[in-house]
Amino acid sequence: MSPAPDPGARHVVITAGPTREHVDPVRFLSNESSGRMGFAIARAAAARGDRVTLIAGPVNLETPPGVTRVDVVSARDMLAAVQEAFRDADVLIMSAAVGDWRPARKLAGKWRKKDDGSDSASLELVRNPDILATVARDKGERLVIGFALETGDGLRRARAKLKRKGADYVVLNDASALNSERATVTVIGRDGSERRIDARSKDEIAAVLVELDAPAPSQ
Ligand code: CTP
Repeated sequence: MSPAPDPGARHVVITAGPTREHVDPVRFLSNESSGRMGFAIARAAAARGDRVTLIAGPVNLETPPGVTRVDVVSARDMLAAVQEAFRDADVLIMSAAVGDWRPARKLAGKWRKKDDGSDSASLELVRNPDILATVARDKGERLVIGFALETGDGLRRARAKLKRKGADYVVLNDASALNSERATVTVIGRDGSERRIDARSKDEIAAVLVELDAPAPSQ
């Protein structure tokens, strides 16, 4: 059961799941994100009495009780929904796996690439907006938490991502977290803090993330 948020409750905006970028009406580029982490965070935030807006890409999950859900498809849809919800928000948690690229054109009819008899085809891609970096630019005192999925030298890359995107925290995980029940993550703060959460369920990780306070100001 989630308590009804009181009028002074924090407004927490959470993104979850993949985005889809259509090539034509029936084909798209996307990724393996299940959305489970973001939905677990939404559940944990509602359970502690936050007012929660969950902005979800295409996923097959039930909306947690007490959560307002906004469904989106593409990265640009998600950006618009986040900007709208963040206006009166206190916290943004970007757990969505946002596609970095989209086809330069969405064809109105099916892409009939075999028609010209060639054995190869290419798709021109253009860069999607970075939702986290865009919103963090004007965040003021509000808390912004990003995720980083890294392979190899994850800590160094995640620290660089935190700086580049202007987030307060980045939650580093590796590809084993995709579609799995348990994950090991490291929460990296703007203040240089690092907190490792080892092989825990997504609900347990979510419970830690919704209690994060603003990191100490950097020197
Ligand atoms: N993110 C975003 N908008 C994008 C891409 C990513 O807001 N267009 C957010 C994700 O929700 C996540 C964080 O940025 O919180 C890191 O995403 P990730 O895909 O790991 O990083 P990228 O910026 O895409 O960097 P790269 O793929 O080069 O590692």
